[in-house]
Amino acid sequence: MKISLIPVGGNTTKGGEKMRFGVIIFSLLILVAFTVNAFAVGPGKTLEFAGGSAGKVVFDGKSHADKGAKCTDCHTKIYPMKKGPGLTMAEMNAGKSCGTCHNGEKAFKTNDQANCNKCHKK
Ligand code: HEC
Ligand code: HEC
Ligand code: HEC
Repeated sequence: MKISLIPVGGNTTKGGEKMRFGVIIFSLLILVAFTVNAFAVGPGKTLEFAGGSAGKVVFDGKSHADKGAKCTDCHTKIYPMKKGPGLTMAEMNAGKSCGTCHNGEKAFKTNDQANCNKCHKK
């Protein structure tokens, strides 16, 4: 198939060709936006972690978005845009991963017995 984006037939068709090119680019952007959203941990999406002996942990994207967390608060300075290997409590208690916020300042802290079951469900 031959796609001609640069019109050869004089200036009269140029505007129309440009417009069509613009529509194609716009459609591609919409497509990319929807594809990304299908995997996003934004509103309505949850991620599940095994959580070891303490029981599984469900991370709720909606509850975090409702608290005002933006994608860029977590991606990619805290997490890659990809489900990774297990996270450890030692890292969280040291202020990494969920512990970046769950440190008793921005949100309830990870190293308090009273909070274990806010994240872990048996
Ligand atoms: C409060 C923190 C936080 C916010 C805000 C957040 N995410 Fe995430 N996201 C995570 C965590 C945690 C993971 C899993 C990382 C891991 O397993 O190491 C993740 C994983 C992902 C993944 C990979 C999912 C998979 O199954 O591989 C995508 C895509 C993603 N997030 C997109 C988004 C988008 C888009 C937004 C904004 C609408 C967003 N995230 C907001 C914490 C967050
Ligand atoms: C902010 C949420 C949160 C809180 C609060 C929390 N955890 Fe976790 N915990 C997690 C997540 C997320 C994982 C990672 C699970 C995975 O990757 O499978 C985890 C993993 C674990 C693991 C298995 C990995 C390891 O490091 O041994 C244990 C055991 C554990 N937590 C115990 C606890 C205990 C005990 C408490 C309370 C003192 C607690 N957690 C509080 C989120 C939390
Ligand atoms: C960008 C900051 C931030 C990060 C990172 C973050 N949280 Fe939160 N989280 C919050 C805030 C803010 C709240 C609400 C304040 C509170 O309840 O103390 C909250 C509330 C919660 C709640 C209670 C509401 C609910 O969804 O049931 C759970 C459970 C939770 N977080 C789990 C996690 C886990 C698990 C991780 C890591 C995978 C994580 N959070 C990472 C900021 C964060």
